[in-house]
Amino acid sequence: MTLLSVRNLAIALGQTRLVEDVDLDLEQGQVLGLVGESGSGKSLTCQALMRLLPPELHVASGEIILNGRDLSRASEADMRQVRGTEIGMIFQNPSSRLDPVMTIGEQITESIRYHEGASRSISRARAIELLRQVGIPDAGSRLDSYPHEFSGGMRQRVMIAMALACRPKVLIADEPTTALDVTVQAQVLRLLLDLRDRLGLAILLVTHNLGVVAQTCDWVYVMYAGRVMERGPKRAVLREPAHPYTEALLRCQPGAARPAGPLPAIPGQAPPAGAFPAGCRFHPRCPRAEPACHESLPVLQAVAPQRLTACPLAEAWRAAS
Ligand SMILES: Nc1ncnc2c1ncn2[C@@H]1O[C@H](COP(=O)(O)OP(=O)(O)O)[C@@H](O)[C@H]1O
Ligand SMILES: [Mg+2]
Repeated sequence: MTLLSVRNLAIALGQTRLVEDVDLDLEQGQVLGLVGESGSGKSLTCQALMRLLPPELHVASGEIILNGRDLSRASEADMRQVRGTEIGMIFQNPSSRLDPVMTIGEQITESIRYHEGASRSISRARAIELLRQVGIPDAGSRLDSYPHEFSGGMRQRVMIAMALACRPKVLIADEPTTALDVTVQAQVLRLLLDLRDRLGLAILLVTHNLGVVAQTCDWVYVMYAGRVMERGPKRAVLREPAHPYTEALLRCQPGAARPAGPLPAIPGQAPPAGAFPAGCRFHPRCPRAEPACHESLPVLQAVAPQRLTACPLAEAWRAAS
């Protein structure tokens, strides 16, 4: 069942479009990976879904349909209810989101009391259950600890507990493991998958790491310069990319099949918003570009069932390789 679908989302700063033409479909119990280099528009997309864009930016077009209801038209009061009870969100840096002078218990119960009007004892019991659910040992006594008494990985688990406090069906996770070291990163990802299975959560997982996508996602959407370049089932996209940008990202991943040596980077730089080139935005860096790529802006087209690419040449080069 599709829980969240986004249609034709555009985010702008004045007249400048930072993100445009974004469609997403997220189903119950599935993990959708949104990948791309830094600056490609992943975080803005998440913020727009929650209606938490910074005030200087605005949604210039689009629909955000959650359970049949268009959030782009919901009132601010309705959105406060939606955040927390229908969509939860976690971020890259858990420390900056936790209040250092409140105990973990106070911070978790605050949202339960606010959204559900639960009593102190009921919300405390629920907070203990949540900490257990996210794998925090000795949950009952940890409730009275302060954030600084937890490690980075444990703090991210607390953030997940807080995001799930009011049983949302959708979790938006913006680079949730980027600030953690590798072993802790794997544990947090495993926790997210476990919660997906137990709670039927739909997860929108933002990452710049294709290894994380390979481990966790069902679907992958590749963003570049504010647009989706390619989307499809994870396995198919990672095995046989249908966009030169995805190919380039794959070549730059640690562990990719290539001679030993320093990790390659995609040559050139992503254009800043407002200075996007005409035609395909990737063409200045694209080894497969042809003159036509400099002219018209390509839109997503099907190349296989459930697979879309914005490279109009994909069919030809895929057939030749
Ligand atoms: N508040 C803002 N004002 C102006 N430009 C912004 C603002 N926030 C983000 N941007 C620009 O929008 C683009 C996308 O940003 P972002 O969504 O944060 O990228 P990502 O999360 O993929 O790294 C970047 O070019 C960034 O510089
Ligand atoms: Mg980001």
